[in-house]
Amino acid sequence: MTNKSKGLKGGLTNYGDRDFALYLRRSFAKSMGYTGESLDKPIVGICYTESGFNNCHRNFPEMLEAIKRGVLAAGALPIAFPMISLGEVFLNPTSLVYRNLMAMATEEMISAQPMDSVVLMGGCDKTVPALLMGAISANKPAVMVVAGPMMTGRHKGERLGACTDCRRFWSNYRAGSVQKSEIDQVEGRLAVTSGTCAVMGTASTMALLAETLGMMLPNSSSIPSVHADRLRSSEESGKLAAQMAISGKLKPKDIISKSSVENALRVLLAVSGSTNAIIHLTAIAGRLGIEVDLNKFNSLSDETPTLVDLKPVGAGYMEDFHYAGGLDAVLRALEDQLLLETKDITGQSLAERLAKPLADPIDFKIIRKPSDPIESQGGLIALFGNLAPEGAILKRAAATKELLEHEGRAVVFTSLEDLANRIDDPDLDVNANDILVLQNAGPKSASGMPEAGYLPIPKKLAIAGVKDMVRISDARMSGTAFGTIILHVTPEAQLGGPLALVKNGDRIRLSAAQKTIKLLVSEEEIKQRYETLSIVEEVPERGYKKLYHSSVLPATQGCDFDFLK
Ligand code: FES
Repeated sequence: MTNKSKGLKGGLTNYGDRDFALYLRRSFAKSMGYTGESLDKPIVGICYTESGFNNCHRNFPEMLEAIKRGVLAAGALPIAFPMISLGEVFLNPTSLVYRNLMAMATEEMISAQPMDSVVLMGGCDKTVPALLMGAISANKPAVMVVAGPMMTGRHKGERLGACTDCRRFWSNYRAGSVQKSEIDQVEGRLAVTSGTCAVMGTASTMALLAETLGMMLPNSSSIPSVHADRLRSSEESGKLAAQMAISGKLKPKDIISKSSVENALRVLLAVSGSTNAIIHLTAIAGRLGIEVDLNKFNSLSDETPTLVDLKPVGAGYMEDFHYAGGLDAVLRALEDQLLLETKDITGQSLAERLAKPLADPIDFKIIRKPSDPIESQGGLIALFGNLAPEGAILKRAAATKELLEHEGRAVVFTSLEDLANRIDDPDLDVNANDILVLQNAGPKSASGMPEAGYLPIPKKLAIAGVKDMVRISDARMSGTAFGTIILHVTPEAQLGGPLALVKNGDRIRLSAAQKTIKLLVSEEEIKQRYETLSIVEEVPERGYKKLYHSSVLPATQGCDFDFLK
């Protein structure tokens, strides 16, 4: 980039007269009170995702001030601009549908507006992948910052954190062991500060992966939302973004590589992160033409130890993870397996990062040594078989061990509506050894691949004390959930995948050891069912949802749009 196209001179509005376009732009910018000297500086755009519909980003006004401080101190001009925000629990049908809208808006606004670098402010689940996808495609120097995780609340002497404990209390309420008065009281004690969910859910996983990819300041991904270090790190991020604006160097395509994607997969496995992260990482990598192959994922899983003892799988919360050493500790534990030539936004290689001494000792109770892992293998695997020819995902670390090898009778729900209508029916023919199957909840379905894969245990079984069952769907699951849950079955039912053929009473066999999921129905019968299969497709009539429906790719391709990869 030449000085001629830096700062306000970049990407001029097209009137057929460049000098006039710049003159007009400067005069309008001056109406905001900027001096000519400020307007001569390189510009750091700040992609700002604060919203009244996003509790997780409640600390963003303060973080924004800190980022601006850093940008100004390093000699550039900070200009914040609003971006779509995706507050996980406030969106219908589900936030995933809007991730690509946010990615598109991010790409276009970074490209269309005059900025030399950008700070991406994300946090809540889909915001981090959306911002990264957009920034990769725009390919201007970019620095990711996140809201940071929430602190835990307290209830009767117990620590509570959104939202693994939300699910645990709700399950107990459904089973009758928690009363209405207590569930109402707990409602105000689950999410008690700004920041993202307090466990190793999707937001925390994606923050760690963004840092592993090299797009964030070292060890900044897990700083608690309310800690002063979150603001100091924001100021530092602003400073770095200003340096990048001045140099024009270290664009996302210079940072994220096949090797850094592989490192991110290792970290995902070692921290037993969210299943959603596979979809998002696939979409992020897809923007660079890098494929995430589920067979390769399985070989990485076989050799990457599970090291982190956090909910929803283990005991601790994200604040414990940060004080135990954060991502620095995980990367050190995995050092022998990582590709060390990758570099981050500071320009250093991973090898150089890991050669630096740590400020504090690692707490090995929370982040284990590779010689003393929680499990010798990774927390997630892909399954294949005639029920999921292109793959499905199982978070084995969150599963009941006895159910990892299981054969059972299918109890089928044909849609989310069918599930809601019948799951608690006292006459439902279901027992604890059955396998619950949900169809038509994949990316192309009208429900847009919701986090419905964590099918509720039928009430009569929950009351009888059943805590887990094998559940299968083409849906997703919240990163904060747990259970023996098979997700992202591909091809999905709505596209005529074999999941659509399953009938009540069919036998299904799960083998985590063999990484298979099989429908135990003869090939002849399967062929016959295909011949009579009729799929009811609900096609949105207009707007973004129509675009989503026509363009969304399968889960195994990250649910990106076909024209954006
Ligand atoms: Fe925002 Fe969980 S609701 S991270």
